[in-house]
Formats: sequence, structure tokens, C-alpha cells
Amino acid sequence: MHKSQGTQRQTNSRDGAALIQVEHISRMIDSRIQQTLILDDIAFTIPARTLFAITGPSGCGKSTLLNILTGIDRPNDGRVIFAGEPLLAKSENALARWRGTHIGIVFQFFQLLPTLTVLENVLLALELGGGGGLPRQHWLEHAYLCLETVGMQAYPNRLPGQLSGGQQQRVAIARALANNPPVLVADEPTGNLDSSSAQQIFKILASLTELGKTVIYVTHDPLLARQATAGIELIDGHIVNQRNANAAITSDRLRTEKLQ
Ligand SMILES: Nc1ncnc2c1ncn2[C@@H]1O[C@H](COP(=O)(O)OP(=O)(O)OP(=O)(O)O)[C@@H](O)[C@H]1O
Ligand SMILES: [Mg+2]
Repeated sequence: MHKSQGTQRQTNSRDGAALIQVEHISRMIDSRIQQTLILDDIAFTIPARTLFAITGPSGCGKSTLLNILTGIDRPNDGRVIFAGEPLLAKSENALARWRGTHIGIVFQFFQLLPTLTVLENVLLALELGGGGGLPRQHWLEHAYLCLETVGMQAYPNRLPGQLSGGQQQRVAIARALANNPPVLVADEPTGNLDSSSAQQIFKILASLTELGKTVIYVTHDPLLARQATAGIELIDGHIVNQRNANAAITSDRLRTEKLQ
């Protein structure tokens, strides 16, 4: 993918500036029997172009938080501000449209459509998301560029079932890039992969920050957590550890690691 395309929607997001502000979010689940506070007054910022890790034990609220960051779920209290705009101000329909062009989602179990080829999976995302501002006549070329970004341009006509898990996750990342979103979120993107494929997938996600993307990922893997530019650790819905970072320093570190 061309740098200019990767950074096309990077408005208001200088390196180091807060792209996402999480302001005192709480999330309560209300069953008939009891109320459970899943996230309790969470506040942090995610600078643009960072590789941001959300870690913590099972059940601590990582996926709930990710769903709130993407507007899939709404907090009971507090708000998320994305590039200066509060998500809560948008209607459900506007949020769904916004998500299609601003957030690329990568799932633990890939979730490619099994009856569509690699290329068709990426083209479908373009169709559903409106092409991220690209004119339709450039979609095919752009889909190939997305596949090239993840090293899958040689397999456009394969079905997902004819690919390894790591290859399927590469295609899923290409699909997440299709509409040129400034942010990618990934909930345990390597959780279903062997350690070597996990490391390769992680390198691809990390390299996307150099294309101007902000990558937010949930992981249980301490090795992958340590490679983040910044991040938070949750326990029982509270932030117990917060790592702010200087995006520029980490970009350099990643570049150095790639050369080794
Ligand atoms: N709809 C729901 N109803 C009741 N409890 C819920 C609901 N959604 C989440 N929870 C609870 O909220 C807590 C946080 O869930 P969440 O899925 O965010 O955890 P997580 O950190 O992503 O865990 P894991 O690492 O296992 O994926 C858990 O205790 C979970 O059981
Ligand atoms: Mg989870």
C-alpha cells in the first residue's frame, strides 16, 4: 500500500497527539439478579500511530473495552472521543457507517467468508464500506495492494479453507485495511496461531504503524504485550498499569528490529 493511501484519513492525528481519548468510562451489566461493574472509571489516551496493547487476565474487561472504543457497545458513564469527536454524539446508523471507514477489525478466528476467494473477501469489505473514499475503478488495484501489504498477493484465488491459519489471518488483516481506516483493532489476533505464525502476524500489525495506522490489540502473550508502543493492563475492570510512550522512539525500535 502506498504511504499516501495509508495516511489518507490521518486528519488531526500528528505523531504523539491523542487520537482516542477514553474519559472515565464505566460499564455495568445489569442482570435481574445483580449489577456487575465490568469497567470502573477507566481513563487513558491512545496517541496516533501507536501500537497499543490491552492486557490482563481473562474476564478483566478487555473485549468489553475494545467494543466501547469501536462504538459497538456503549458505556454507562464516561465517553470516548475519537479525533476530537465524541462517539456518543452519533446515532446507531451513523456509528455503523463511521465504523466501516474508521475502524478495521481483526478477529481471533479470522472470520473470512469460506465460499469467497481471498480477493473476493477483500473486495466485499470495500463494497460494504464504500471503498474508503476510493473511486470504484481503483478498488481491484487497491484490494491487491492490501494483499501485498500482508504478503498474500500470490493467492488471490484461493478459498480460505485452502490456507493456513497464519495466511488466513493475513487476509483478514488485508480485509481490515480495505477501507483505509486510521485504526485497526484486534482482539487476540494471534490467539489461534502457533508461536511462529503469531510472531509473523504481529510483525505485520506492528509495521502498519509505519503506514500511519494506530493498532490496538488485546493479547495474553507477554512477549507480544512487551512489544507495544504503549498500553494498559486491566484487572477486574480497573487499570493497574499504564504505559505511555513516545511513538517516534518505538517506530525507530521497530525499524531496527526488522533489520535484525
Ligand atoms: N453480556 C454480558 N452479561 C454478563 N456478563 C458479561 C457480559 N459481557 C461480559 N460480561 C462479563 O464481563 C467481564 C468482562 O468480560 P470481557 O469479555 O470483556 O473479558 P475479557 O477480558 O475480554 O476476557 P477474555 O480474556 O476471556 O476474552 C467478564 O466477567 C464477563 O463474564
Ligand atoms: Mg475477550
